[in-house]
Amino acid sequence: MKLPLLNKKVLVTAGPTREAIDPVRYISNHSSGKMGYAIAENFLFWGAQVYLVSGPVSMPIPSHPRLKVIQVNTASEMYLACCHFFESVEVAVFAAAVADYRPEKAAARKIKKDADSFAINMVKNIDIAYEFGKIKTADQLSVGFALETNDEITNALHKLARKNFDMVILNSLNETNIAFGADTNKISIIHKDLTQIDFSHQTKKEVADNIVTAVNVLLNERNVEMTAGIR
Ligand code: CTP
Repeated sequence: MKLPLLNKKVLVTAGPTREAIDPVRYISNHSSGKMGYAIAENFLFWGAQVYLVSGPVSMPIPSHPRLKVIQVNTASEMYLACCHFFESVEVAVFAAAVADYRPEKAAARKIKKDADSFAINMVKNIDIAYEFGKIKTADQLSVGFALETNDEITNALHKLARKNFDMVILNSLNETNIAFGADTNKISIIHKDLTQIDFSHQTKKEVADNIVTAVNVLLNERNVEMTAGIR
């Protein structure tokens, strides 16, 4: 079988991050990691070398000769792990549900149940996709997700521009999506040139297949442009 992505290097972030409150508690996002893992698997299927930077997930960690999995906990660990690989990859897919904030200071000891209430001061975490969007070269392609409950298209377009994505995957968290269950998604792929493809409800594996196919199409278009001397 011909492997169209052979020798292509891909970075995928997946899963949630955990930000410590004290040694036994943390703040996190709901995320199974399934989407990112399915994307990584699909890239492997087409021959790519994949660096999968994963937050804590309950799935078994896959093993494949062309896969390197880096397990992390926090957003800042995820960012540092990505820094090792970003420069060398042609494609980066930011599928992780990174915690946007972390407690300013994690308590060194378990917080005891003495007070009736207490406040945690939260500070902003690094935005991984945004940071790499700033240094992305013309030869690199990046894909991000926008999980939205309202003003979906506006918010997705804002993320596409701000984080310098070539493509954003809009994942609407509305009643229909919730009713269909956690293993399916109804997505739209929006390109930088604002072309949009809407998909019906699909399994995460099917969604991953459509995303990787769209990446492949973009890579091929770039090759054609380069060969024709347009870029
Ligand atoms: N992302 C990231 N690092 C963060 C936050 C988000 O890399 N600290 C990436 C996600 O992996 C995703 C995209 O940015 O590809 C958008 O994430 P999302 O949580 O939808 O948006 P935010 O930028 O966090 O904005 P908001 O939470 O305000 O919607």
